[in-house]
Amino acid sequence: MRHPASEHTPGFDGYDAELRRHGEVLRRACGVRLHDHVLDIGCGTGQTTRESARTARAGGALGVDVSASAVERARELARAEGLHNVTFERADAQAHRFPQEHFDLAVSRFGTMFFDDPVAAFANIGRALRPGGRLVMMVWQHGEHNEWDVAIRRSLAGPGEFATAASAGPDPFSLADPPAVKRILDAAGFADSAFTDVHEPVYYGPDVATALDWVRGFTCTGETLKRLDPPAAASALGRLRESLSAHLTDDGVWFDSRAWIVTARRR
Ligand SMILES: C[S@@+](CC[C@H](N)C(=O)[O-])C[C@H]1O[C@@H](n2cnc3c(N)ncnc32)[C@H](O)[C@@H]1O
Repeated sequence: MRHPASEHTPGFDGYDAELRRHGEVLRRACGVRLHDHVLDIGCGTGQTTRESARTARAGGALGVDVSASAVERARELARAEGLHNVTFERADAQAHRFPQEHFDLAVSRFGTMFFDDPVAAFANIGRALRPGGRLVMMVWQHGEHNEWDVAIRRSLAGPGEFATAASAGPDPFSLADPPAVKRILDAAGFADSAFTDVHEPVYYGPDVATALDWVRGFTCTGETLKRLDPPAAASALGRLRESLSAHLTDDGVWFDSRAWIVTARRR
């Protein structure tokens, strides 16, 4: 996971740029309505929260994130847009005391894969939803279905070492398996869970230098490079640069990706 509030190259809008195709798919799946109260889980700098608030003009949106810097940036961006029906709180969605049975919709763009106890976390989110309220979240499919993950891991590990290159840090693929996610959601008080395949590419920037800077900021990349001695780290970075160059198009650096949109209803 790269932190969405990290510094990034001017002209490359960081995580929002990386996920611009995904954001559009998620927005359509959410179908936010005028009077909705929306909870955005792991909102980062709040693009999905602000979009929800713009549509829910007679309701509102609350974004929560554990990162103080992300929440601060989210507030700045909402202020700059003059949005009055959006708030942000620094909170751990697993245990935060949300208003009970208040929200019509809980949404998340890749912000729900990092819970220590997913059943407890989704049960907590479920209690914040009114009965029948909806959960709509985007999560990654397995790493091997994500060209970006395969390419990064292969570059960092070097030839023949792919299998041993365990990714470090939080697991972005923890909700990749639909039957397992269905069991978690059932146990957390949700019903009617459904999975829609999302096949859209991720964007890493207009040129290789920007893409390399962006990917170096991913937790898994940073942690792996830290474990290598300086010559091995330099070789790994060289391989990563080559891989990014191979994905440079007239329209910048793109990698194929696979995600799920998971929908469910609070029972
Ligand atoms: C991959 S980022 C996605 C950010 C945002 N949804 C977006 O699309 O720009 C994951 C976010 O989840 C947040 N996060 C992780 N665990 C969390 C938790 N238990 N409660 C709230 N936020 C959490 C992280 O701080 C991070 O900002």
